[in-house]
Amino acid sequence: MVDKICICGAGTMGAGIAQLAAQSGFETVLYDLDGAAALAAGKRIEGQLWGLVEKKRLTSAQAEAALGRLQLTGNIGDCRADVVIEAIAEQMEAKLSLFSRIAALNEAGTVLATNTSSLSVTNIAENTLHPERVMGMHFFNPAPLMKLIELVSTSYTSPETISVLHSLARAFGKTAVLCRDAPGFIVNHVARPFYLEALRLLETGLTDIETIDSLLEASGFRMGPFRLMDLIGQDINYAVSCSVYEGLGKPERLKPSPLQQLRVARGELGKKSGRGFYSYP
Ligand SMILES: NC(=O)c1ccc[n+]([C@@H]2O[C@H](COP(=O)([O-])OP(=O)(O)OC[C@H]3O[C@@H](n4cnc5c(N)ncnc54)[C@H](O)[C@@H]3O)[C@@H](O)[C@H]2O)c1
Repeated sequence: MVDKICICGAGTMGAGIAQLAAQSGFETVLYDLDGAAALAAGKRIEGQLWGLVEKKRLTSAQAEAALGRLQLTGNIGDCRADVVIEAIAEQMEAKLSLFSRIAALNEAGTVLATNTSSLSVTNIAENTLHPERVMGMHFFNPAPLMKLIELVSTSYTSPETISVLHSLARAFGKTAVLCRDAPGFIVNHVARPFYLEALRLLETGLTDIETIDSLLEASGFRMGPFRLMDLIGQDINYAVSCSVYEGLGKPERLKPSPLQQLRVARGELGKKSGRGFYSYP
């Protein structure tokens, strides 16, 4: 029985997942090692919930109740829950260190999920106390809106863990697809060429980002690749490209682009930093 959920990392995804958890009726802890980031995420969640009230998708009592269920913290000691969902930086060392601290803080029965887009869930499980309770729970951006969740199991994952996260995805109103641990899982494996081919086209100087985005949007894609990379975050998208490339044995067709690497080096991370391929005043 899941009553309380803790989300680690209060960035783009962590804030969205925390909003979803609080709105779905769970006691929710949102932790970030940067306490100010947790508070800023709380403000964004508040803004989102009142926006839903304005659109009449939520009553003000429901928004207030969701906010009442949300605890923001910069103290890792508060990360005790029935399910912990990690959504910190896409870096293996950082995730391994967080998982070992979270595992030590919680009961053996607490399910530990990672929202990683591409890193090895098996590696995280192998390095965590009670690997059978570790699983990937890969949300899509923006988490409150996107319907799909990839549930990523390893050879260690227990049927109980799968069942807890499957029920949780349902309680969030999502469609869960179960897949085995593999580089990029399903969606990020299939979607890699969408970004990389657009970046290669840009590298040739044949055309510009606005033209590529508007043509792909006109052909039916909800967002063009450059707008989407800015929404995801260049750092995250570049890290995913590198990890899928390496995980699949470095095939030439999936080689990460120097153009994206340059954006990351300049701190032009997209919407979250105010500038990426586009500017966000
Ligand atoms: N951005 C996307 O579209 C997207 C989609 C699906 C999955 N993901 C995955 O979700 C995870 C988070 O991505 P994001 O876009 O929200 O990143 P982000 O950069 O927006 O936020 C990351 C947050 O984690 C915090 N953080 C970093 N290290 C920490 C630590 N050791 N302990 C606690 N907090 C820490 C940072 O302060 C920051 O607030 C990544 O694994 C990413 O691959 C991202």
